[in-house]
Amino acid sequence: MQGGARLIDGNAIGATMRAELAGEIAALKKKSIVPGLAVILVGDNPASQVYVRMKGKACDEAGLYHETIKLPKDTTEADLMSLLERLNANPKIHGILVQLPLPKLIDSNRALHRIDPRKDVDGFHPENVGKVAVGDPTGFRPATPYGVQQLLIRTGVETKGAHAVVVGRSNIVGRPMVALLLQDGPGGNATVTVCHSRTRSIELYTRQADILIVAIGKPEFVTGDMVKPGAVVIDVGVNRVDDPTRKQGYRLVGDVKFQEAKQVAAAITPVPGGVGPMTITMLLYNTVQAARQWANP
Ligand code: GUN
Repeated sequence: MQGGARLIDGNAIGATMRAELAGEIAALKKKSIVPGLAVILVGDNPASQVYVRMKGKACDEAGLYHETIKLPKDTTEADLMSLLERLNANPKIHGILVQLPLPKLIDSNRALHRIDPRKDVDGFHPENVGKVAVGDPTGFRPATPYGVQQLLIRTGVETKGAHAVVVGRSNIVGRPMVALLLQDGPGGNATVTVCHSRTRSIELYTRQADILIVAIGKPEFVTGDMVKPGAVVIDVGVNRVDDPTRKQGYRLVGDVKFQEAKQVAAAITPVPGGVGPMTITMLLYNTVQAARQWANP
């Protein structure tokens, strides 16, 4: 059966937003400011290697300065801390990103808290978490929920007064997603329900969602019968599942059973090509915001 849902194209919206950002990057360059991003990868997680490469490529294409620093998986916390201190003091670097997950030797929270909050383009430092929670626009919004919010705004999905159900409560996606949906202004003013792995009868909540945002990290967790007819479905999941018919031996699926959900939803994001390209776009936005705020504190 041919599905009815409109596809929300993250590649197209991301490209439009990067074109819009080019104007601001050019204006900063006239003032001799080139926004700079440092990306740190510790260890050899294969998915992280792909993401880090994509972030560097996106900086190159946008004309941003970037450094990718790769450290071995037995790097000590002290070594990472001294690198962060050097980057905090480096005037060419406006944004610092430590790719997660970190190897077990390193306490992620201690590392993330060592980044100067003014350079914390991931928005994971408690100072930025707090600013985002109270709607202070100088805070950095974590790139993935920031990208989801932009997808909603730019596809004309009205969040004001809508019931948004967020499935997942991670610090990277679920929790900041709730904060953004609750803010006043475009892409905000929603009524928000949060569900997670311990929610009982989760389908009772998902079926009430006008906007269903799924970031629970379980392949094809949300089935068609869990979606309200006419809902907008945003699938944040990126899961590798074994597929011997593919050259790499795996394929990517989201947290939503796409073929089923698209029969029921009014609009839906594909995986890949939905939220993913927006995440990198918003990282570029945050790096430019960091450079702008550094120049005008
Ligand atoms: N790992 C998965 N998502 C993210 C992200 O948004 N930022 C960082 N630093 N690591 C991640």
